[in-house]
Amino acid sequence: MGRSEEVLGEALKKHDRSTYQLSTKFTPQIADSSDNPVETMLDASLKRLNTDYIDLYWIHNPADVEKWTPYLIPLLKSGKIKHVGVSNHNIEQIKLADRILGEAGYRVEAVQNHFSLLYRSSEQAGVLDYCQEYNIKFFAYMVLEQGALTGRYNVDNPLPAGSDRANIYNGLLPQLQALTDQMQAMGAKRGVSTADIATAWAIAKGTTPIIGITKPKYIDDEILVNKIKLTAEEISLLESLADNANVDTRGGWEQPMDA
Ligand SMILES: NC(=O)c1ccc[n+]([C@@H]2O[C@H](COP(=O)([O-])OP(=O)(O)OC[C@H]3O[C@@H](n4cnc5c(N)ncnc54)[C@H](OP(=O)(O)O)[C@@H]3O)[C@@H](O)[C@H]2O)c1
Repeated sequence: MGRSEEVLGEALKKHDRSTYQLSTKFTPQIADSSDNPVETMLDASLKRLNTDYIDLYWIHNPADVEKWTPYLIPLLKSGKIKHVGVSNHNIEQIKLADRILGEAGYRVEAVQNHFSLLYRSSEQAGVLDYCQEYNIKFFAYMVLEQGALTGRYNVDNPLPAGSDRANIYNGLLPQLQALTDQMQAMGAKRGVSTADIATAWAIAKGTTPIIGITKPKYIDDEILVNKIKLTAEEISLLESLADNANVDTRGGWEQPMDA
């Protein structure tokens, strides 16, 4: 637990704190029984990251919005956290967290939900529009569906056997082929990768993608991807192929956004 924060904290030691921003999260399911479990978890992150504040602090899920959101207020007041985001929250849960923070003069400034060509629940339930209307930044996670939308994996070259992602996606790969073939063709036309097209689509929808980068070369893709502009026709073609794939990639930890 917390190993990636330790590694990051070590790597950042040689950089001035004003030159980067940090974000980490509070997960209700692993809260301890201390007086302020949110501050206890935050303090452990601060120690591992070698810092005394977090720029954007997330509540990982809406396990109990009324219970956990108030704990953030003293942390905002003390400056230990600068901004608050909520993850896996639907509109009603976002509104509730925002109302609780609003009573103390703060607000929900970011939302982080699963959003990809294959999983557009936040768009269908109006979360994207809501965020846009109220100037809340929407961060999209699993834009590449854990690798299934990168073109790297297909029926002949499935995801690594025995991994959780193989169990979820390998059975779906035949249904994804028409979509990933089209993404590859759109990428080839521009000299970019299939993964870049998935990310460019998410950016075109007004979101900020959070990509699980596992290799240094993937960083070059992320720099490049901002330059890709998909046309309205391309976006509509990708979405109709995604609909035709007829797969449900909602994670076991997520509730549908319209629930
Ligand atoms: N709030 C939540 O509940 C929640 C839940 C899940 C994830 N997240 C966040 O979202 C982030 C991303 O999620 P994720 O890593 O599960 O899924 P993802 O970003 O959809 O997929 C990551 C996978 O895609 C491949 N990949 C990444 N960049 C690539 C590129 N440029 N070209 C080709 N392949 C590429 C890598 O696979 P290979 O290594 O096989 O190449 C990597 O394992 C996580 O790190 C986390 O911060 C949040």
